[in-house]
Amino acid sequence: MMLDASAIWLRDNCSCAECRHPGNGQKLFNIGDLAEGIRVDEVREDDGVVHVRFAPDGHAAVFDGEWLRSWLPNTAEAPADPRADDAKELWNATTIGAVPEADWVAYQRDPETKAAALDAVLRTGFVVLHGVETTPRRVLDVAASFGFVRNTNYGELFDVRIETNPVNLAFTGLPITPHTDNPYRDPVPTVQLLHCLRNAAKGGDSGFVDGFSAAAVLRDENPDAFDVLSRTEVTYRFASADAELSATRPMIGLDTYGRVREVRFNNRSMQPIRLRPADSERFYDAYRAFAEVLNRPGQQFVMRLQPGDCVIFDNTRLLHARTRFEESPAEGAGGERHLQGCYADLDGLESTLAVLRRAQ
Ligand code: OGA
Ligand code: ZN
Ligand code: ZN
Repeated sequence: MMLDASAIWLRDNCSCAECRHPGNGQKLFNIGDLAEGIRVDEVREDDGVVHVRFAPDGHAAVFDGEWLRSWLPNTAEAPADPRADDAKELWNATTIGAVPEADWVAYQRDPETKAAALDAVLRTGFVVLHGVETTPRRVLDVAASFGFVRNTNYGELFDVRIETNPVNLAFTGLPITPHTDNPYRDPVPTVQLLHCLRNAAKGGDSGFVDGFSAAAVLRDENPDAFDVLSRTEVTYRFASADAELSATRPMIGLDTYGRVREVRFNNRSMQPIRLRPADSERFYDAYRAFAEVLNRPGQQFVMRLQPGDCVIFDNTRLLHARTRFEESPAEGAGGERHLQGCYADLDGLESTLAVLRRAQ
């Protein structure tokens, strides 16, 4: 029979007990342990099972024929990647349909509710949990329900409310335009949570924008701008008394197949760009064009967080925003706005979902 695989590939993928640990399937040898110039000495297929003997080591391997064929290169298609844009359901404010939401009590009790909620974070980019106790630090329990809290310079969690000496504009009552968080970190926190404890202020509505959808609009309307933003490295920086962080990445991050895989967009922390004047003009035109798409009314989904709501969202894809708010002292404690937020990671969320699905 014809084998459409190289001898070294076959030898490297032998799954016998000598080659892979029978308990966990992990490989027991290193590439240097295999003879250079290894070849297939003998091969036969019996009932869909392929038997191979190698030379010079004389090792024998057995493969399922279907399995071998499933590994043939498929140049027409990019490999599936749950983080890339083609695995997502792109939306804007007019196409979003039903908002992905779940009840926190049901989420904790019922694996299917939880799986649907986590799946929404991967596919839609967010889920709103309702009925999360308005107890300080509860947001950490929500993060722990699907992954590990990612500590940052802001602590294990951060309070979003008006502060006297705010290190970040988030801790004022000013409006915040659509942005991704912590673009100055590498790796960036890929999941963000915002839990509403109080929202009795005037204003302070939340907005979410699908950055992958906006990137698709830009690619369609203005391919040059898309190209510039996917190639130009931008430095983001944050400095405070106890932190100095910076990371350099394009605003639109592509994988090797040209799929959008990450958006970093944050006017507050963007640093001067190092470009010749003509390139700088081109960059600013592209940046402005992307911002224009992101800020189009039809692009941003606006909602008001109620106490007990906790949004879990993909910080590599969704941009979040809030309108200006004013606390009214006359209303006392009732007039305040207070959110608590924290970060976690998408790979952990994916893993939790995959394990849940194993059981289903
Ligand atoms: C943030 C932020 C939005 C809000 O803290 O990162 O963007 O609703 N807050 O206050
Ligand atoms: Zn083997
Ligand atoms: Zn933010």
